[in-house]
Amino acid sequence: MADIERTWIESPSRRVALARLAGLVAASPLFGTLVRAQQDPRPFSDHRRLPGLAEMQSSFDFEPLFFGNVSLQTYDYTAHGDGSEFTLRRNREAFDWVDLLPRRAIDPAQVDLATELLGVKMKFPLIVAPSAVQVPLHPDGEIGMHKAATAASNTLMVLSQNTSTPVEQVASAATGPLWFQMYPQQDRTAGRRMIEGAQAAGCTAVVITVDQQASYYERTQQDRNLGGTPRSGTLTFRGAGAGTTQATGAARYRVSTARLWYTWRYLDEIRPLIRVPMLIKGVLDADDARTCLEHGADGIIVSNHGGRSMDYGPSTLEVLPEVVAAVGRRVPVITDSGYRRGTDILKALALGADAVMLGRTTRWGLGAFGIAGAQRLLELMQQELVQAAAASGCAKLADIDASLVRTTFV
Ligand code: FNR
Ligand code: LAC
Repeated sequence: MADIERTWIESPSRRVALARLAGLVAASPLFGTLVRAQQDPRPFSDHRRLPGLAEMQSSFDFEPLFFGNVSLQTYDYTAHGDGSEFTLRRNREAFDWVDLLPRRAIDPAQVDLATELLGVKMKFPLIVAPSAVQVPLHPDGEIGMHKAATAASNTLMVLSQNTSTPVEQVASAATGPLWFQMYPQQDRTAGRRMIEGAQAAGCTAVVITVDQQASYYERTQQDRNLGGTPRSGTLTFRGAGAGTTQATGAARYRVSTARLWYTWRYLDEIRPLIRVPMLIKGVLDADDARTCLEHGADGIIVSNHGGRSMDYGPSTLEVLPEVVAAVGRRVPVITDSGYRRGTDILKALALGADAVMLGRTTRWGLGAFGIAGAQRLLELMQQELVQAAAASGCAKLADIDASLVRTTFV
């Protein structure tokens, strides 16, 4: 047989050739990268089944389970930020710009991070951030979140005005501390009722969220188009007369009726209605923090709404030190936006925060496993914080100070 014939007979068929090529690619390290790049949003590369609650090792483990459990619309609503999501990414990147400079490690059993914040005794300086409509995450909803927070060492929860379950029902479902969050209400009667209702239900502080103003139009537009759902309905804008096609007044600028109508004076108006401490959420600037104090704030929350307020704003970690300096320990400073690990929280405490609020992570916990998931998520964050404090040689909150970190914000 001539060589040419032998090659022809022995050469692999196209199918065999493809199979051999696939084997080659699969064996290559490139394969992992290729496959991962196509998995959205996060691969279960090491699993052939979904991991269970007992296998959760960090907050990140909850997100893919949350993704799998909820509708795409609910996932997208939770995950996204404003505009090009620069601030959303920056919130996470900022942690890379803060080094920890640990001292001699101590036994975690020696660590006690207990504190008291506006009358609330806390075992750990962690708070469940207010986040809207939780029943779509899991039938346990806000009631489950409150029960989970109480079960996780009596963690303080802040209930959003946009709760899917009335405040009285959430408040009476568990014994842990509960605060109420609201946006300024143009309808003064509705606003007063909201404040009275929260106080009557037993909420021991009221948080007024003042950010997400200019961004609100864009976020609302995005939310109407979630999960690939076609747009429907219309938004109402201030000054838009019924039946008019010509936009007038503020409507020309597409300003939502819910935002950009108030000034700091609104705080003076509602302060007398609030018999409990009032905190202002959404502060990113030293001057604004001072202004809040002039208008009766008992606490400042440094937040960019988890990257859902105005895009291209700074991460909260970057501005935290200047706000802390401006407040000068007159009232507590709480922060949130991007916190996912114990070391993230340690960094904020070192830069002067009195406590850290957790937003999306608590939604992932609840969405992944209901009450038990939200509880486990909080406990994992508490454990990670204790580990980080122990590894840094800090036995109590007062030991966690600026000498623990070196910042190189870019
Ligand atoms: C929020 N946040 C929020 N804040 C608020 O004051 N009232 C609200 O109703 C809501 N709703 C809400 C819904 C969803 C889906 C998200 C993700 C966030 C903001 C929240 O309190 C907190 O500031 C951020 O979530 C903190 O950032 P991380 O932890 O989510 O990165
Ligand atoms: C949000 C509003 C509800 O961030 O605060 O979705």
